Amino acid sequence: MIGAYDHSQYAIRSTDHPTPPVTCGAVPVAIAGRAVSGHLTLRALTAADFAEARVVADAWFGRPVGLTMHRLFFDQLGPAGLRAAAAADSERMLGVLLGFASLADPELAYVHFVMVDPAARGRGIAGALYREFGRRMAAQGCRRVRTLAAPTNGRSLRFHESLGFVGTFASEFVGPGQDRVVFERTLPFPPAP
Ligand SMILES: CC(C)(COP(=O)(O)OP(=O)(O)OC[C@H]1O[C@@H](n2cnc3c(N)ncnc32)[C@H](O)[C@@H]1OP(=O)(O)O)[C@@H](O)C(=O)NCCC(=O)NCCS
Repeated sequence: MIGAYDHSQYAIRSTDHPTPPVTCGAVPVAIAGRAVSGHLTLRALTAADFAEARVVADAWFGRPVGLTMHRLFFDQLGPAGLRAAAAADSERMLGVLLGFASLADPELAYVHFVMVDPAARGRGIAGALYREFGRRMAAQGCRRVRTLAAPTNGRSLRFHESLGFVGTFASEFVGPGQDRVVFERTLPFPPAP
């Protein structure tokens, strides 16, 4: 006989990551479309952040992101996943970075996914997420960071080039008709200008 399925046994608990949040220097951010000058708080993602990210991700990317933003990243990345918010309004997510240190190459850190609220772009939020991720990964021995961008994603290409990444075009890198630019640079990042 098959026993009753007790859902409560399988409830996912949000992990309380010990890494303290960091506050970046004055990054002008926008709250509800209104530009304000303030600090940005970056902290480790938790499983509890998935729902909020899921609600905004397709709109922020301008297309369905599907399982590229699988909840496993929120459950499992710990301090290598980052959430950005304005210090003055920490409830509202302004950006997310999903990354990790490679198991295949311990000197390589990898950014799988990054997104910033369209209302807060061009103010250095993605740059701040990358710098904090790079700092955390360098502290555990990574010397390089890699990420992919679609050759059609001009904003992403410019962003990565402005952060000092060097791109190599890779034909059909993630499948038929799916070219990518493979971006790589050394760690650590220089401090923000
Ligand atoms: C790509 C993306 C993450 C960049 O986020 P962002 O927060 O706007 O990035 P930043 O503000 O750090 O940098 C963007 C630009 O603003 C500039 N900038 C950074 N800080 C700035 C500041 N304080 N004032 C003015 N400009 C600034 C950067 O130099 C950069 O210039 P560029 O246009 O020449 O690249 C964002 O556009 C996004 O979420 N896009 C949709 C999702 C996506 O495509 N993700 C990448 C998949 S590979």
